[in-house]
Amino acid sequence: MSEPSQASIPIVNIENAPQHIGSTVTIRGWLYNLRESGKLLFPQFRDGSGVIQGVVPKNAVAPEVFDAVKTLTQESSVVVEGKVRADKRAPGGYELDVSNVQIIQRVPESDPYPITPKEHGTEFLMEHRHLWLRSQRQTSILRVRAEIIKAVRDFLDERGFTLTDPPIITPAACEGTTTLFPVDYFEEQAYLTQSGQLYIEATAMALGKVYSFGPTFRAEKSKTRRHLTEFWMVEPEIAYAQLDDLMSLAEEFISFVVQRCLEHRRSDLHTIGRDISKLEKILPPFPRLSYDDAVKMLQEAHAKGALETKFEWGGDLGSPDETYLSAQFEKPVMVHRYPAKVKAFYMEPDPQRPELALCVDVLAPEGYGEIIGGSQRTANYDLLVKRIHEHNLPEAAFKWYIDLRKYGSVPHSGFGMGIERAVAWICGLEHVRETIPFPRMLYKLYP
Ligand code: 4AD
Ligand code: MG
Repeated sequence: MSEPSQASIPIVNIENAPQHIGSTVTIRGWLYNLRESGKLLFPQFRDGSGVIQGVVPKNAVAPEVFDAVKTLTQESSVVVEGKVRADKRAPGGYELDVSNVQIIQRVPESDPYPITPKEHGTEFLMEHRHLWLRSQRQTSILRVRAEIIKAVRDFLDERGFTLTDPPIITPAACEGTTTLFPVDYFEEQAYLTQSGQLYIEATAMALGKVYSFGPTFRAEKSKTRRHLTEFWMVEPEIAYAQLDDLMSLAEEFISFVVQRCLEHRRSDLHTIGRDISKLEKILPPFPRLSYDDAVKMLQEAHAKGALETKFEWGGDLGSPDETYLSAQFEKPVMVHRYPAKVKAFYMEPDPQRPELALCVDVLAPEGYGEIIGGSQRTANYDLLVKRIHEHNLPEAAFKWYIDLRKYGSVPHSGFGMGIERAVAWICGLEHVRETIPFPRMLYKLYP
């Protein structure tokens, strides 16, 4: 269409449009939707920061502007000029009286944008994930995700933690050998990291309080709503911290992140349809539940018929067990001291009951299950070597890790929180596939 009329018209993000009520602005974005009502057109424009409804009355604009809008196809890119007007009836409380439209690229009618406002199945949407990301719900989720990551970093940075980045290509397993992705590393066998923990135990001995934040990989063949093969994990690690310190940190940390989302991303949570009152309750302290007591709750649930299988002491909690437990509390529940047998090799045994590990899993409420796993780490040299052997791990690959117990070993603890699990819970999503722009899951590699 016509060239933009005046260079002096400010380019404005839609989210900031309310600050420009009464003035003419330029918006650069895409056509989200178009409604027609007699001689009035109501195009909705989006620009990544929000959506604004435009108004185009036939008798108030140039005929070529009216025709351009009338035939505009969904997701065509456009630069729009118009005056922002407050209107109580409009979505968001304001509208744009469109005066000019410049089409940057027109989506051809013969090959229209595949995602229409009508319902699509999940499989179709996943195949078109590169386009699905443009929907309002998806952009809101991604903004909440970014807020969560920022809150995580701010919390740790403000408390004197130093960010230290562990390697992604590693010679050995951290969380067990069954879920490693192999990498051909020249002549050597290497793996994609499952967790940065072992490396940040080293940086914690150098810097005291550290964290890592990065991608981690699990080759487990689990096809559940909670599992990705590639996910992002934040892991704080603290020299001299014991299990109780770790649980206090976890409850402060989670509460901070949730409250920050409420403060900065309330309208996005609204768009997603989250019940915000449930998030408002997420403040310390969180309930602490021993594994022993958790088992009792699960057995009572089975007796009442609320759980299908009877849980026996000694096993790891399965998804249905976690779902049940976490649905019993309004806040995340911290389940501590699992049997050492079902947990990783590096966990410190409970001195009172050595068959238990000084560990904690934080289960998010509303049935979301584990979002944090952590523990105190074995500080004793001989015990650590013994554990490495018991788990059939190659001692040579762990030599440097064992060294940490030789040169100034101290009690220390840390945890890992999966960002996607946290996003799923905070946004109230059914499945982790919507929590990351391009999810990697079992047999899912495109796009
Ligand atoms: O419980 P995990 O396996 O613990 C560790 O990796 C420790 N080394 C962390 C530490 O102590 N520094 O994983 C930690 C968290 C889980 O609680 C969960 O939130 C997330 O990582 N997670 C996954 N998220 C998505 N998909 C998967 N397959 C996940 N596996 C773990
Ligand atoms: Mg775990």
